[in-house]
Amino acid sequence: MPNTKIAGIGFYVPEQVVTNHDLMRHMDTTDEWIQERSGIVERRFAKRTEETTTTLGAKAAEIAIQRAGITKEDVDFIIFATLSPDYFFPGCGVLLQRELGITHTEIGALDIRNQCSGFVYGLSVADQFVKSGMYKNVLLVGSEVHSMGIDFSTRGRNVTVLFGDGAGAVVLQPTEEKGKGVLVSKLHSDGTHAEQLAFINPGCHAGYHFKKMGTEVDFGYEDVEFGGLFLTQKMMDDGMIFPNMDGPLVFKHAVTKFPEVIMEVLNDQGLSTSDINLFVPHQANLRISQLVQRQLHLRDDQVWNNIQRYGNTTAATIPIALCEAWEAGKVKDGDLICIAAFGSGFTWGASLIRW
Ligand code: COA
Repeated sequence: MPNTKIAGIGFYVPEQVVTNHDLMRHMDTTDEWIQERSGIVERRFAKRTEETTTTLGAKAAEIAIQRAGITKEDVDFIIFATLSPDYFFPGCGVLLQRELGITHTEIGALDIRNQCSGFVYGLSVADQFVKSGMYKNVLLVGSEVHSMGIDFSTRGRNVTVLFGDGAGAVVLQPTEEKGKGVLVSKLHSDGTHAEQLAFINPGCHAGYHFKKMGTEVDFGYEDVEFGGLFLTQKMMDDGMIFPNMDGPLVFKHAVTKFPEVIMEVLNDQGLSTSDINLFVPHQANLRISQLVQRQLHLRDDQVWNNIQRYGNTTAATIPIALCEAWEAGKVKDGDLICIAAFGSGFTWGASLIRW
């Protein structure tokens, strides 16, 4: 059975740079607060009406495809991870196919909804397809345009200052080289705190989960015989259409689950943290990355962080960071790369890749 290797990697971030000082003109926040709590200095925002999650993903994909030495027509499966899709449906997978101009239909497109761990989940799915021999050129994309769906008033500041737009992509192919490629992935989930990091409205839940949890919320649904609206005026008036996040709760879980799952993949392979050449954590918060680094006794040169420049781009953070590290010559043939993510769901996971 072949292993799955990353044959090409690319990333794209919008040109528009938005600094913490720019955000301060819209909400009650400070550059010091943002930097001290998250490490973020600036982020990129997509050009409204000209760029979408799909188009950013397509730009990253084109680079990855070219670096893999294939053509767009060679791609036989698309996996698109995002929490900020262009449409509720269909997903960005087919929109990316169209954007790339792939007109043949000998291809499948799958959308992954695992938020911050979308890339790790996507890699694991792609790995199974490649290993089984079903597909030879899987295009995995993580892309987000958060700037279209966050609250730029002070009410949303705990979330809004953290997020940015961007995309990363990889082309995955089979390799017969022993011990190379994706060595292992471990995936986890726990729905207990689903609403604590969530984009709840619009949705088709009609308040069900809140009622079940005994925390009934008035979403402004009309009393009708059946059906109803997934977006109400009250949701818009009360700002219920923005992401909800219990930051401290997410932080607490993240700093526990990251080291756990990283040790799990290392133990699976009989490896230790000192064997890692480069650790590329999901970029949620520089403080989270630094705490994880310390817990795992990793040196600075073993870790790649770039949240300072891009903020949290959710499904895109890992491929963007991995691509930057690769471009900087930090990822060499034979290196052991560890990627790990934690996020909404909660879902989390890690993979080890021998480059
Ligand atoms: N600017 C200024 N003040 C802000 C602010 C902002 N952007 N956002 C929140 N605050 C305020 C809060 O209102 C609160 O004020 P209060 O003490 O008067 O009530 C205070 O800062 C502290 O808020 P808290 O949420 O406890 O801060 P924190 O130290 O936990 O940092 C996060 C907040 C969001 C940076 C941090 O919890 C975090 O990063 N969590 C993980 C988030 C994450 O990773 N999300 C993505 C998951 S993949």
